[in-house]
Amino acid sequence: MQQTILERVDQIAEDVAVLEFRATGTALAPWEPGAHIDVALPNWLTRQYSLCGDPADRERYRIAVRHERLSRGGSEYIHRFLRPHRPMNVSLPRNNFPLRPAPAYLFLAGGIGITPILPMFRAAPTATLVYLGKSLATMPFADELTTDDRVRIIATERDGRPDLTALAAELDPRTLVYCCGPASMLAAAEAVFPAERLHVERFRPTVREFRPDTAFRVGCARSGRTIEVPPGESLLDVLNHAGYPVLSGCREGVCGSCELTVLSGEPEHRDDIGAAPGRMYACVSRALSAELVVDL
Ligand code: FES
Repeated sequence: MQQTILERVDQIAEDVAVLEFRATGTALAPWEPGAHIDVALPNWLTRQYSLCGDPADRERYRIAVRHERLSRGGSEYIHRFLRPHRPMNVSLPRNNFPLRPAPAYLFLAGGIGITPILPMFRAAPTATLVYLGKSLATMPFADELTTDDRVRIIATERDGRPDLTALAAELDPRTLVYCCGPASMLAAAEAVFPAERLHVERFRPTVREFRPDTAFRVGCARSGRTIEVPPGESLLDVLNHAGYPVLSGCREGVCGSCELTVLSGEPEHRDDIGAAPGRMYACVSRALSAELVVDL
């Protein structure tokens, strides 16, 4: 964790606040576009938010938070109670949505999904941004983007829905597409853009069916212990209860906090991040083999 001072809380759009955390003493850890941080809230909740400021500014992190109507306590607390000039802890940045090298990019952002996209768009030399929202008043950063002729702003109440099929048809075959926004928008993008060129970031897990949980063993290579993971209990909880301080954030397989290195055995990946080879996310993923050995 890094100690910061919450320097500003500003309302920048309907139901959207921007928070700025300032370094106390040493510079904040570096980050790249697409990264997010865990924010430890004073009400004991930890929430993940994409960094949307300037990666070159090592003195400040900036995030934007939408007040969710079905808040589980994070955005509700931030909007109703959090005030500036208080110390707060934030994690080191983590990036599950990195910008891969490409000659050109198409960015699609829906509402608060603009937050990871904004620094990516600014870092990409050749890029088009299509930014959707219900109305301009609900779209954070729309005012600072309207003057950029590489940006198409679509307020759906005024302009209707964009034709993603037409966008896909005119796409240069070397262009990568990055998309972040509500589930309906991600599904629409997945239906029209080739999977190998589409990168999405989800705030919520996709609804999927998995086979029923079965028990498996987890061997902790460094300590030499083997522990049983029963059905209905997550690997993360079992490890935490056994005294292994595996970090967690979302507990839904979308943030990446609980990543483990797998040394042997076959994980059953249930996350929405796309675990790299030899990695797994302990909050949701289980095992296809009778035993996994992890680097703990
Ligand atoms: S806690 Fe977020 S992916 Fe596991």
